[in-house]
Amino acid sequence: MQKDVKVKRIGVLTGGGDSSGINAVLHGICLEARNKGIDVVGILDGWKGLIEGAYMPLSFEKTVTYVNTAGTILGTSRTNPYKIEKTAEIIEQIKSQKLDGIIAIGGNDTLSVASRLADDFGLNIVGIPQTIDNDVPGTDYCVGFDTAVHNAVEAIHNVRATCDSHKEDIVVEVMGRDSGWIAAVAGLTAGAEFVFVPEMNFDANLLVDKLKARHAQGFLSNIIVIAEGVTEFAHAKIESGVDAFGNKMLSGIGFGLRDYLQEKLGKKTRAIVLSYIQRGGRPTSYEVFMDLNFGRTAVNLLVDGKTNLMVAYKQGTLQPVDLKLARGKQPVREDILKMVKELTL
Ligand code: F6P
Repeated sequence: MQKDVKVKRIGVLTGGGDSSGINAVLHGICLEARNKGIDVVGILDGWKGLIEGAYMPLSFEKTVTYVNTAGTILGTSRTNPYKIEKTAEIIEQIKSQKLDGIIAIGGNDTLSVASRLADDFGLNIVGIPQTIDNDVPGTDYCVGFDTAVHNAVEAIHNVRATCDSHKEDIVVEVMGRDSGWIAAVAGLTAGAEFVFVPEMNFDANLLVDKLKARHAQGFLSNIIVIAEGVTEFAHAKIESGVDAFGNKMLSGIGFGLRDYLQEKLGKKTRAIVLSYIQRGGRPTSYEVFMDLNFGRTAVNLLVDGKTNLMVAYKQGTLQPVDLKLARGKQPVREDILKMVKELTL
């Protein structure tokens, strides 16, 4: 949507699970805002800060010192203003803070709220897709994905040699919610022997047979990368519970699968759950470069009066797409899924 707005002051928030690269986005925003003479207000802890009126000033001088760091200097939360009926407070805060536009940085949940607010109240909002899960539709890349994959690959390399020395198989559980992007790309690039993603069937007995065959051939150490979202395994040890957006807790398949394999194969098997190791650590250079440009592009869209949009990376360029797209989920790309299946099944 195109609007005629003079942008002098923008608010920025980061919501949902963090990832390494958000601070680079914030720096890209401040860099471009400085070029355009715009003030940037940092909203603390996602939508929660915009409900409660919790802010910090952001500037080039502040963000430049964090450009290569993990986490988000604004803090984050999984607050859902629609669930707690606090949208009126948000509108009030935007007015009282004289914010001409909002840049919301987050995954499907944060950007779905942004899209609903833009539709319901005509707010000037631009979204930036940020999630290690890389599952926001309409974009080929989400902030944080490259670093998460890099971290997972490093972790797999770190356990590989020891597992080889001790002739043990190891299950590596990675994050990703309902999508297998991290498992697929990290598993393939780390040279795992087996990779399982939620987008394909999981048959534990087939895995047992395949491992038996490999052991018989003398390959006693195998890496099995499995996404936390592979839910069709009765022995997974998943805790119950949902977050404010109704997302189920998922982690648990790693240890469940380890116990199952140990019992069926009669051989010591290990498991690691990579968890937050994927979300932290120094962002990769590719990450920082992409993220600076995500931030700069979002500012320019608001300046041009273009709103209710998401900055998307498509066919090698950053471009605006309808923010509504973020309300869906994007599974692993077909050609990548094919590689995973060819490796594993
Ligand atoms: O969406 C990012 C993500 O890291 C998912 O991969 C994972 O399922 C979820 O967040 C974990 O959420 P929390 O940090 O609330 O445990």
